[in-house]
Amino acid sequence: MLLQVLGTAAGGGLPQWNCACPGCAGARTHPHRRRRHASLALRADEGRWYLVNATPDIGDQIEDSHALRPGPGPRESPVAGVILTDAELDHTLGIARLREADGFDVLATRPVRDALLGPLRLGEVLAPYTRIEWRELSREAEVLVKGGTVEIDAVPVSAKRPRYAVGTGTDEPTWVVALRLRETSTGRSLLYAPALAGWTDDFQDAVEQADFVILDGTFWDDDEPVRTGISARTATGMGHLPIAGPNGTARRLAGLGARCLYTHLNNTNPLVDPDAPQHTLLGEWGLEAAADRMVIEL
Ligand code: MLT
Ligand code: MN
Ligand code: ZN
Repeated sequence: MLLQVLGTAAGGGLPQWNCACPGCAGARTHPHRRRRHASLALRADEGRWYLVNATPDIGDQIEDSHALRPGPGPRESPVAGVILTDAELDHTLGIARLREADGFDVLATRPVRDALLGPLRLGEVLAPYTRIEWRELSREAEVLVKGGTVEIDAVPVSAKRPRYAVGTGTDEPTWVVALRLRETSTGRSLLYAPALAGWTDDFQDAVEQADFVILDGTFWDDDEPVRTGISARTATGMGHLPIAGPNGTARRLAGLGARCLYTHLNNTNPLVDPDAPQHTLLGEWGLEAAADRMVIEL
């Protein structure tokens, strides 16, 4: 199985256009610190790729990756579709940028699809431009990506709705899922969970079964959003378990056999500074921050 990390930042990216926080300022001064919105590319088959989440950076993310560039035909793209972990704007706005395609697949759970077709009206808006084939992701039926050998399984994470969809749908735990991507020929798997509001038994099982884990690293500690003045809510209150501290994810991951990386870093997270002492701590726990453009071969 072959994957490319296309971005590792939370909503807003690094730097965020309207933000002068130390993390964003540092990324303006040191361009190698820049991070695009969190996304992955998954190779389904030779010359056929799926994007995991469609971010506002999708055009640049495709252009920057040799494997995702079009050709040899004038309008021939290796991008076959998008697999969604949730309906948040930073993970879905990029779908509208794919409108030049003849058509593409969107794999999503039912609440996520309903949010995109309902309050976001993506179906109506895009129908005159392109043909979207919606395919349902669920826990019960693993979905095989078209033309490939990778099976996708959606592990329910939480019923957290995006702000534009608050009050819609029902309280199903598949508003946000972790994706288990498993190559059928080798059985090797990667677990991708860029938004993790809670650590369920189901999720613990999925983590134990994975060969590689990429996890929500939005905030370093629970108090970070309040301390930095970006929110009145804690990390947990915003639907993101922090990395460090008593309810942090690091202590659950440390000692696991799998390689574990953090992604979806917010611009307030000290890890956006490569010289921050928190990187040393992470290393001592056997963990690390993911980097844009990483290639993962499993
Ligand atoms: C999140 O990751 O919690 C969301 O993207 C935040 C938001 O943009 O509302
Ligand atoms: Mn987000
Ligand atoms: Zn900032």
